[in-house]
Amino acid sequence: MMFVDTHEKYTPKSLDDFVFSNEETRELATAYASGHLKKPLILHGVSGGGKSLLQRLIPNAIEGREASVRKVKCASLKTADDIHDLYGRNKQFNKTFTWDGQKFNYIIIEEFLFTNQRLVDAFKIELDETLGTDLTIISTNRFDKIDDGIVSRSEVLEIHPCEPHVFFPHAKKMFEAENVQIDDAHLLKCLEVTHSLKADNRKYYSAIDAMFRKI
Ligand SMILES: Nc1ncnc2c1ncn2[C@@H]1O[C@H](COP(=O)(O)OP(=O)(O)O)[C@@H](O)[C@H]1O
Ligand SMILES: [Mg+2]
Repeated sequence: MMFVDTHEKYTPKSLDDFVFSNEETRELATAYASGHLKKPLILHGVSGGGKSLLQRLIPNAIEGREASVRKVKCASLKTADDIHDLYGRNKQFNKTFTWDGQKFNYIIIEEFLFTNQRLVDAFKIELDETLGTDLTIISTNRFDKIDDGIVSRSEVLEIHPCEPHVFFPHAKKMFEAENVQIDDAHLLKCLEVTHSLKADNRKYYSAIDAMFRKI
């Protein structure tokens, strides 16, 4: 038996290792990584596609090192003041400086969903005022509920879990790194079964952990 926590050990540490489910995702993520895009980015799609992971890896790719980010769960933003505080009230300061001399201040909002119009309005104001200084990256699986004005200010990307053959090379690398011979057809079959039960990249890691335990 081998006990490997592949999720902990082999979750991509940089955008170069991220498994892109399609070319559109690769192109837009790469464009953001270049630091040339300033618009807020909305990542949406089902759970386990890699939205939160991309939210973390894009700032690092832009900075070329571990970036300082301000990360919040949307549910913790309860009032308009919370939103203004998130972006920092002293805009004069913000416009001249970024934290740690970074290219941007990064605002990462997970599980994005505002049901209150005052929050929506406060958020739109912040997006406009901080454009170019702050890069806001949002993830949500409730894209249908996001205000049109927020969507129109942003780049929007739907993130899909990877097809089994797309995830395969990443899986194969884990076995190679652990010095374990694995039959390609068997590995692919295992990924296919996993994917057919639930399309969620997390499940691949659990399935591979189970394969290691059978060794
Ligand atoms: N595209 C991907 N390439 C490699 N690993 C991934 C990918 N997407 C997700 N994962 C794995 O699945 C885990 C959960 O992904 P996460 O980003 O939290 O999904 P989401 O936010 O879309 O629900 C990540 O920690 C990572 O281990
Ligand atoms: Mg997430």
